[in-house]
Amino acid sequence: MATFTSQPNALINTPNDFLPLLGTDYVEFYVGNAKQAAHFYKTAFGFQSLAYAGPETGMKDKVSYVIRQNKLTFVLTTPLRSDNPIADHIYRHGDGVKFLALKVIDATAAWKETTERGGKSYMEPTILNDNNGKVVISGIHTYGETVHLFIEKENYNGLFMPGFIQWKSDYNPSPTGLLYVDHCVGNVGWNQMNTWVKFYEEVMGFKNILTFDDKDISTEYSALMSKVMSNGNGFVKFPINEPAEGKKKSQVEEYLDFYNGEGVQHVAIATADIVKTVKDLKSRGIEFLKIPYSYYENILDRVGKIDEDLEPLSELGILIDRDEEGYLLQIFSKPLQDRPTLFFEIIQRKGAKSFGKGNFKALFEALEKEQAARGNL
Ligand code: FE2
Repeated sequence: MATFTSQPNALINTPNDFLPLLGTDYVEFYVGNAKQAAHFYKTAFGFQSLAYAGPETGMKDKVSYVIRQNKLTFVLTTPLRSDNPIADHIYRHGDGVKFLALKVIDATAAWKETTERGGKSYMEPTILNDNNGKVVISGIHTYGETVHLFIEKENYNGLFMPGFIQWKSDYNPSPTGLLYVDHCVGNVGWNQMNTWVKFYEEVMGFKNILTFDDKDISTEYSALMSKVMSNGNGFVKFPINEPAEGKKKSQVEEYLDFYNGEGVQHVAIATADIVKTVKDLKSRGIEFLKIPYSYYENILDRVGKIDEDLEPLSELGILIDRDEEGYLLQIFSKPLQDRPTLFFEIIQRKGAKSFGKGNFKALFEALEKEQAARGNL
């Protein structure tokens, strides 16, 4: 069994898995200004320039900047003209995640298996070639306007993808220790949880490995339900949130209002040294949710002995939780764009394979404070 802190992309197949996944290949964002967004992610998160596609490479209607840090690859895409579906997407949703691209051995089989099981096709298997070899891409729709792409790159030696050229830059900010995508969370609408759990089970062969209901995670005001879906080898995990009735508006509902529908709520990124990473990110201007100091007062009674000193964790607002297999350290950024929609989680797993259930209450109280300041609670 693989652990999440080791090679997330190593090839491990579980028997009878009709959709073997090798991990996340990349996350693609539709943004209002890809050039500036790429600069922001490089500067604030320590990504490096990797590849570019646009009019200069024959792509006339949009530009894409590809940035990378370790196994984490982001693509930032923007349309060049108004009469473009990407422009409509940005008008509806603001900046956000459009594609969760999954690495597969066979993109044709992935498409066939999922569409035969009821997945709605986004893109039939398509072969892209250049001097560096061949990439096959296919895709299916998931919640909202979000898409899962299946990327087969076994026979490709280029930087990123045919159609892209190297993006050489003299500006190379130092990395911040971000390693790979740990999990990606989707927010779905009222009463839509079961629809999407069923989708991941039936269409993609995932399993529901954890469930939190409103009793686990309601605070005084807002509530939500969450179910964690995982593929067979555990490399790809998609928790799903649905709002629940509380005294006031659920944080998931605020997201649905501002994203104008269902979509990706947060991308959780792994690090091997969360204190160092978070210090670095803060010094570059990334803002995190503030956790009341009282959270730390009896924390070790709850989570037991940990390797880290408590002081830097409490100073930075890093949360701690334990499950049967170990513990984890996590922290949540404020929204990364103007709309209160997408944010990042930074996570360091020390054996734990769960998602920080013990932190939900403290976390949501912090979130609600922000939500109230926006007048949306
Ligand atoms: Fe998370």
